Amino acid sequence: MSDRPIIEIRELTKFYKGNDEPALNTISLEIFPGEIFGLLGPNGAGKTTTISILCGLFPPTRGEVYIDGMEIRSNLDKIKHIIGVVPQDLALYPTLTALENLTFFGNMYGLRGQDLRTRIFEYLKVFGLEKASRKRISSYSGGMKRRVNLIAGLLHRPKVLFLDEPTVGIDVQSRMVILDYLKEINKIGTTIIYTSHYMEEAENLCSRVAIVDHGRIISIGNPRELLKDHPEFKNLENIFLHLTGKEMRD
Ligand SMILES: Nc1ncnc2c1ncn2[C@@H]1O[C@H](COP(=O)(O)OP(=O)(O)O)[C@@H](O)[C@H]1O
Ligand SMILES: [Mg+2]
Repeated sequence: MSDRPIIEIRELTKFYKGNDEPALNTISLEIFPGEIFGLLGPNGAGKTTTISILCGLFPPTRGEVYIDGMEIRSNLDKIKHIIGVVPQDLALYPTLTALENLTFFGNMYGLRGQDLRTRIFEYLKVFGLEKASRKRISSYSGGMKRRVNLIAGLLHRPKVLFLDEPTVGIDVQSRMVILDYLKEINKIGTTIIYTSHYMEEAENLCSRVAIVDHGRIISIGNPRELLKDHPEFKNLENIFLHLTGKEMRD
């Protein structure tokens, strides 16, 4: 890890229209190059709101974000080329094939022609989708769609990758393929910020995690450090339940 944060968040607050409670409440955070950082929390905690602001989808109500030393709002064009985003909701066109979808995303990043095609097929192979490349997305399983969604965020080989619940509701094989690949690109230098509510997954994957609830960070650290700070709990899941409460969230 180097000393200069690749992501710096200062006192981020977000109010949505018609909601008196802030979705984010003065969150400050630094993420360093080479980290796999997990943003963990129950439904409604503010994870998607955080990711959306960090990738420039909309501005915060208050606060500042710096990515790779650049203030996000005034450098969106530059920042778009160094970040990749894998949204929680699928961003694919169901009536197009995987190849057509990925060509579309590649074009958005200025990738074209044979180079783009070669790159797409490299990724399709990694994610076991080569044979299905010319089938419509609507015929894909949930896990297959997730894998294509992930490729769409990776095509331009971003330095920083944001993933919002990339492993929710998919088969165990797809999950393993995705997690193994994230570890691999992290080893060669990609910084990863991802949200999840699977504690065990985060415990194994992340260099650090922040547990968020009601728009605030309530605990942050290396998963092993957090366990050391709470010796009464056997795993991150128990810490999480202790900190966020056991009541169900929508
Ligand atoms: N577009 C929106 N308009 C109004 N409220 C929203 C909107 N998106 C999210 N919220 C509210 O903001 C809070 C945080 O939501 P979100 O960031 O989606 O949480 P998470 O991803 O952790 O489940 C929730 O209370 C949610 O209801
Ligand atoms: Mg969410």
